[in-house]
Amino acid sequence: MKPIEFSCDHAAIPSATITELQARLEPEIGRLQAAWGAGYDTEYASLSLPSDSGLLEQIKAVAHEKKSINPRILIVIGIGGSNLGAMAIQKALGKKNDLVVYYADTVDPAYTGAIYRHAEQVLKQGQEVLITVISKSGTTTETIANAQLFASLLKQYKKEYTRNIVVISDEGSALAHVAKKHQISYFPIPPKVGGRYSVFSAAGLFPLYMMGIDIEALRNGAESVKASCTHKNLHANPAALSAATLYYFYQKGMNIHDTFAFSHSLHGIGEWYRQLMAESIGKADTKDGKSVHVGITPTVSVGSVDLHSMAQLYLGGPNNRVTTFLTTADQPDIAVPDGTPFDSLVPMIQGKSFTTIMNAILEGTQKAYKDVDRPFMTIELPEISAYHCGQLLQLKMVEIMYLGFLFDINPFNQPQVELYKKETRKILSHE
Ligand code: PA5
Repeated sequence: MKPIEFSCDHAAIPSATITELQARLEPEIGRLQAAWGAGYDTEYASLSLPSDSGLLEQIKAVAHEKKSINPRILIVIGIGGSNLGAMAIQKALGKKNDLVVYYADTVDPAYTGAIYRHAEQVLKQGQEVLITVISKSGTTTETIANAQLFASLLKQYKKEYTRNIVVISDEGSALAHVAKKHQISYFPIPPKVGGRYSVFSAAGLFPLYMMGIDIEALRNGAESVKASCTHKNLHANPAALSAATLYYFYQKGMNIHDTFAFSHSLHGIGEWYRQLMAESIGKADTKDGKSVHVGITPTVSVGSVDLHSMAQLYLGGPNNRVTTFLTTADQPDIAVPDGTPFDSLVPMIQGKSFTTIMNAILEGTQKAYKDVDRPFMTIELPEISAYHCGQLLQLKMVEIMYLGFLFDINPFNQPQVELYKKETRKILSHE
């Protein structure tokens, strides 16, 4: 199968810098290579998820049992790393069955209330609702509030309501303990797999499998980038080269990374990457405690929509951003038909297809970026398939691991996220 294509021809780094960064990265590349597929004991544990055959079997077995109750609605309860991966893949590939899927993430009463009302209506009609409670820590305020809400709804309508719940959490969490105590179906997230690296754990794969998405192709895609993403030569290693490029431009004051998805379908992957980049690289201290306050601000743009809102800033504003254009080579096309009153308005689109027009806009945009000297990389998916999405997500997680190494920060923790969670709990316990 064709791999995704990466290029940084228009964000070139001096060759002496490449040589220097390649030498710096070499031991880290070796560590990733050794850890990839070797189990869950190191901080690179997430790299072993796509080849974990036991996990795949467990997902299929639990899904088989849950599909047998014939759920009409699946409510994915979780936030951040616990739902963005599934959301991104669902948005890219679309559901493959008629299960209605909702994401209960925050505690917005209007948003959650609408999901609640639909779920209640379905239960009243005697149909089934399945909820997955996903939380690595097991104590995220919003997730547990939603878990209580929907478990209580199930309880009102179903005697054996715990059968309609699946819990996915860290092996040692209080949530895992509750699941085991109440005989609720449960998947562990290995302790060293952080939330934003958990898309290939049950957190991402179980809901996606329930939606009929080909999770084996997704895993195979992720596994297929191992050789390239652990190649010692930066020019043959897209993850390391992308990290080196972002690091180099950061030193030049370009501290924004825009993922410019030229497809609505790829927008969710940009949003998933936003969390991955922001939480992994935005750090107060180096690994040995020196205060640094580093970070690259990830943004997501959608082509061609955001050309009509953001392009003036991108091309005319401060030169403080590196862009990665995310595109696909192949998708179902639509022709611009003639015979309507609008035919003469834009003569150059007559007889063309939507893809031809979109490609012209993309080419024109990249030409404009070159004209005003704005650096950009490109990633092209041969098609938007599970396999290629798996490749892309894994490449991006490895890119972030290399970037964390270059910045000398820990890309796997999120101490300040924990800080806000702790403060929120304190406030709530006094109210
Ligand atoms: O990446 C992370 O660890 C966080 O952003 C979490 O994904 C998010 O806060 C949700 O946490 P949890 O999965 O513990 O409920």
